[in-house]
Amino acid sequence: MAVDTSVEFTGIHFENPFLLSSAPPTESESNIMRAFDAGWGGVVSKTIGLHPVVNVYGAKAKFMRTSADNAQVSMKKRDNAALHSSWNWELISDKPIDWWEPRIRRIKEAHPGKVLIASIMAGSGNDKELGNWQLLAKACQEAGADGLELNFSCPHMDRKDMGSNIGKDKVLCSTVTEAVKEVANVPVWCKLTPATANIVEEAGACFIGGADAIVSSNTFPSLPLIDAETLEFEINVDGYVSSGGLGGPAILPMALAKMAQLTQAFPDKSFSGIGGISDMSQAVSYFALGCGTAQVCTAAMLDHAIGPNVIKRLNEQYAAFLEKHGFKSLEDFRGARRDRVVLQSQIRRPSTSDYAGGYEPVEGYAAPAAHEAAPVTQ
Ligand SMILES: Cc1cc2nc3c(=O)[nH]c(=O)nc-3n(C[C@H](O)[C@H](O)[C@H](O)COP(=O)(O)O)c2cc1C
Repeated sequence: MAVDTSVEFTGIHFENPFLLSSAPPTESESNIMRAFDAGWGGVVSKTIGLHPVVNVYGAKAKFMRTSADNAQVSMKKRDNAALHSSWNWELISDKPIDWWEPRIRRIKEAHPGKVLIASIMAGSGNDKELGNWQLLAKACQEAGADGLELNFSCPHMDRKDMGSNIGKDKVLCSTVTEAVKEVANVPVWCKLTPATANIVEEAGACFIGGADAIVSSNTFPSLPLIDAETLEFEINVDGYVSSGGLGGPAILPMALAKMAQLTQAFPDKSFSGIGGISDMSQAVSYFALGCGTAQVCTAAMLDHAIGPNVIKRLNEQYAAFLEKHGFKSLEDFRGARRDRVVLQSQIRRPSTSDYAGGYEPVEGYAAPAAHEAAPVTQ
């Protein structure tokens, strides 16, 4: 049976549903060109701002590993270790919009059939700064970007009106989205932080602002470990560290829980899944929960900087997966397991009268109303 590996997502045609997410693999023209040649259906640029940023001294990202014979989780290189996670405190692109504009143009001229999404970020404290979002959006789309991803999720911003601090504030989420939508003539995706109590609320605010899709997850706030020998953080500058972001295999189940909340709350909206994907065995969960595309960072960073083997494997496994299950395209199974995430009390037990979701059965009183029950996942 002929399978169709292409997808339509927010009105954009992708030859396959796999994108490199905004991160070091997408920080330069040469990387993005190589990524398209390698077979990625789309690329989200490293987040672009108006002004250059200055990163910390030394390493901006490292990988944590663990092993079966030794449960240690550490950045130290050692034999027989398996990847646990990536940890980073890298800021957005150190190249400003003026540097990116001609490059976006050249990339799209060389690869008109591939999808280039420009990730952008600015402050949001006043009208001038909302105007900066609009400047960035217009510059990227005029240079040829197929879509915009608004970074409401960078976990290392000091400013209260930037990055994940926008993603923690419903009002800012809808205000910034609306400002960008005012000038956008391409689809607008909002990339949210997983570090909020109920991500459904921020997603809802983005949709009110006009978002075409929600992207989740960016990295989870985290610290590197303290070395038992030196008593120093495994990554530090002059002994100091600040909260950074965790990615890779360690965040996969947590990112899936966030995605399940989102897709259940908005079953008719578009979602792009990220977090711990390196092959189809992980991507399938995002698709079955309702995602229309999947993005990859950590696994690609560890594979020749842009993941040529990762995308080859994903493309092969994806086509084989569709074929094996008799699906003609992603739409035949997208969201197929979305409604299988239910309240604890709805899971079958040895005896049906055993458990009332934590509520004591009180004679004469009705069961708790639906709105009193806890959210499905958290
Ligand atoms: C070193 C590094 C830099 C990143 N920079 C950005 C960024 O500029 N913008 C952004 O939206 N996400 C950024 N991310 C987050 C990734 O795009 C991705 O959401 C996250 O790593 C989870 O995916 P993974 O588990 O495949 O790594 C960065 C991640 C890493 C590891």
